Amino acid sequence: MKNLLIVGNWKSNLTSIEALQFLKKFELENLATFNAKIIICPQYLCLAFMFAYISEKKLPIFLGAQDVSSFPGGPHTGEVTAQQVAEFATYTIIGHSERRRELGETDTVLVQKALMAKSAGLTPIFCVQGEDTPIPENVETVAYEPVEAIGTGHPDTPDNAERVAHIIKTKNKNVTDVLYGGSVTWDNVKNFIEKESISGVLVGGASLDPAAFASIFKQC
Ligand code: PGA
Repeated sequence: MKNLLIVGNWKSNLTSIEALQFLKKFELENLATFNAKIIICPQYLCLAFMFAYISEKKLPIFLGAQDVSSFPGGPHTGEVTAQQVAEFATYTIIGHSERRRELGETDTVLVQKALMAKSAGLTPIFCVQGEDTPIPENVETVAYEPVEAIGTGHPDTPDNAERVAHIIKTKNKNVTDVLYGGSVTWDNVKNFIEKESISGVLVGGASLDPAAFASIFKQC
């Protein structure tokens, strides 16, 4: 059996109060029976209290950030470093297409972010938009997310996602896990995770509602 990863990318959604309401509902689902690792990536301001809540209640949930700074600590106003994230989280998304597009993140800066994440002990979930997107050497977990599938309700075909995942693994010897992301919901998740080269999914919209997110795990 595969060690599946299911990652919720909350993007710039949910306030702290809404995040707490999410956890209170989500924990009522039978989390211990889920056959996939549960990873939630909220906005930075939720990481500390969610970490405290999850630890106190011993919930089987791992946290991730949605980005880390390419800088170490120091005079970088507004930046959140990998080391600061690592106090509360295990993972960090790096190189999401929204950040590449809206914030001009380049391949060079993303190499630096991956380095920072790794040296702080975080596992980068490195987003690529196709088989030709460069992947930093130290990255083991990749999320293939074709831009036209994100938030559109039109996911890639499982066969094409498998093809791309296979090429990524063949070309990048360090990559052990390739996730698929883009319009994943409970009714299509199975088609992706049953593919040989796909180790899980990165979920945006359908991760914001506790019941909708739980229903994805129930298909696994
Ligand atoms: P979506 O987003 O599931 O809403 O398509 C996925 C992502 O951007 O990570």
